[in-house]
Amino acid sequence: MFSPSLLQYRRVVAALDKQMRTLWHTSNIYLHPGIHEYATKLTDKLPGDLKVAYIVNSGSEANDLAMLMARLYTGNYDIISLRYGHDDISLTYEHYDIISLRVQEELISFQKILKGAYKAVRAKGGLCISDEVQTGFGRLGSEYWGFETHNVMPDIVTMAKGIGNGFPMAAVVTRKGRNVIDDEKLQENCDIVGTYLMKKLAKLRDEYEILGDVRGKGLMIGLDFVNDKKSRSPLPAADVNDMMEDCKEMGLLLGKAGLHSNVLRIKPPMCITLSDADFAIDVIEKSIKNHYDRTKTQSYKMRQNVTVERVPMFTP
Ligand SMILES: Cc1ncc(COP(=O)(O)O)c(C=O)c1O
Repeated sequence: MFSPSLLQYRRVVAALDKQMRTLWHTSNIYLHPGIHEYATKLTDKLPGDLKVAYIVNSGSEANDLAMLMARLYTGNYDIISLRYGHDDISLTYEHYDIISLRVQEELISFQKILKGAYKAVRAKGGLCISDEVQTGFGRLGSEYWGFETHNVMPDIVTMAKGIGNGFPMAAVVTRKGRNVIDDEKLQENCDIVGTYLMKKLAKLRDEYEILGDVRGKGLMIGLDFVNDKKSRSPLPAADVNDMMEDCKEMGLLLGKAGLHSNVLRIKPPMCITLSDADFAIDVIEKSIKNHYDRTKTQSYKMRQNVTVERVPMFTP
């Protein structure tokens, strides 16, 4: 007969044995599904939006990474931690006062202090990190994570020790990024501004002989430049390039595409507005007019007569 604790221990040893017979160690340049499966199991144990895990090697490394991320995200530098906490580093007086004042009011429970501290930090644009290196993974009995016993929801959780049963393993878990495309209704914006642009560009197409076609959907549009609408032969790439450069000088960035490099591609940021679209139309129309002006000049006609000798890229 084995005691239950010994049986549990045997399960851990058996899992380690299996892992070592399969794959002992790889550097993280080799992708392996194990780490993703583990991250999913780990984040399943965390509440709310705490769903993105970064695996590292030690609690200190996890805390360093958490602080680095918080600093980058908030643009703030100062860190507040409890004076007798494990990693009580970098206390700033201004912020420390918020906490120490409340600690002195002895009647206030730690739960209230922590809630108050979270609120104060967030009001100043800060993030809250919960170090679960000692308290995580069910050790507290009533809850799986220490922060749950205080009824607070951190932005970042760090963990180590219990996570790897003594192996050098740790993790930083953060909230999922917000989906800007959904939040800002950018798909809808592409539809509205894109349709508006297409209608205005169709007018330009009807007006100017060299704009052979306007194709696209939403904010992904191509302007097909031709010599004339009858032949539909592509406008020389050099001319289209001149128009593209012209647009750039006037403040509008377009891309080049097409087999003959005679198509200008409109693929702007998805957040552009209707007035940005009006600006783009004005610039494109001006560049078409400039093209007509250029083609009337002597220097343009001379350039058109220059033939470029094709040089093979590779000689056999
Ligand atoms: C609460 C807490 N955070 C972080 C650490 C640092 O972890 P490590 O020794 O894995 O770097 C410790 C270490 O004891 C700890 O107790």
